[in-house]
Amino acid sequence: MKKVLIATDKPFAKVAVDGIRQIVEKAGYELLLLEKYTDQSDFIKAIEAVDAVIIRSDIADRNVIEAGKKLKIIVRAGAGYDNIDLAAATEHKVVAMNTPGQNSNAVAELALGMMVYMARNSFNGSSGTELRGKSLGIHAYGNVGKYVATIAKGFGMNVFAFDPFVAASVIEDDGLHAVGTVEELYSKCQYVSLHIPANAQTKKSIGFDLLSKMPKGATLVNTARKEVIDEEGLLKVFAERPDFKYLSDIEPDCKAEIIEKYSGRFFFTPKKMGAQTSEANINAGLAAANQIVDFLENGITTFQVNK
Ligand code: 3PG
Repeated sequence: MKKVLIATDKPFAKVAVDGIRQIVEKAGYELLLLEKYTDQSDFIKAIEAVDAVIIRSDIADRNVIEAGKKLKIIVRAGAGYDNIDLAAATEHKVVAMNTPGQNSNAVAELALGMMVYMARNSFNGSSGTELRGKSLGIHAYGNVGKYVATIAKGFGMNVFAFDPFVAASVIEDDGLHAVGTVEELYSKCQYVSLHIPANAQTKKSIGFDLLSKMPKGATLVNTARKEVIDEEGLLKVFAERPDFKYLSDIEPDCKAEIIEKYSGRFFFTPKKMGAQTSEANINAGLAAANQIVDFLENGITTFQVNK
């Protein structure tokens, strides 16, 4: 009997696990569950006997992949797959997939939620500001960026977008302003919402040069990855621009300094929370389970990311 493991340090909602179980058992496989593990060695042990694994931001490095002696497929229930060692997967003939778009609305709602929270001074009773009429730059117009743009337009924001891989006409057709360069996006927008993946090109790419271009009352919103931020540059902007604020769905490595010096100008989730809704867990979890069955039964590799 084939075995499918769910390995989630940050567990799915129960309803999503139940749905995954149904799909897996209907296919005649056994479901194993490893949640809230405290040590990577637990993951390494659990993967030894399984044919397939579903993960979230869990680290699937070379050690994990090599421990999976029977492993044929690893599905990241979510968008970013920077936590999978793709070279190791390819080397060991393990198919790696993600589930693009399935959790995007949840992440977008958190981005706007953090913006409202900060604009209203953390709901502390003092007079805040509104999002209506403010400029918002979407940095990378993928699945999450599109949802953020749609919701922001509902708030009456003036939405701009930049994505080197998306034609300006696509952005304009969605009723947004397309800008030609990343510098232009940051120069024009009081709010910038980051949706770039973390890879060799983007790591530490958002730093002082871009952030210092933002107009007065600047707020950077990061629901992407902390690794895309050049934290030295971030701290320099915090020091030089008393108007600058930073909202991040995960704590930066330099959080201690920000907490100590820049009270009231930041909000960080303690754990990555963007995709942490029942709906997103169901969408991404069930998609992952279906992709595993489709692959093991019919060789379907539509969402493979290590081709
Ligand atoms: C993603 O890449 O899909 C999001 O960052 C969500 O990550 P999570 O599944 O760890 O919450």
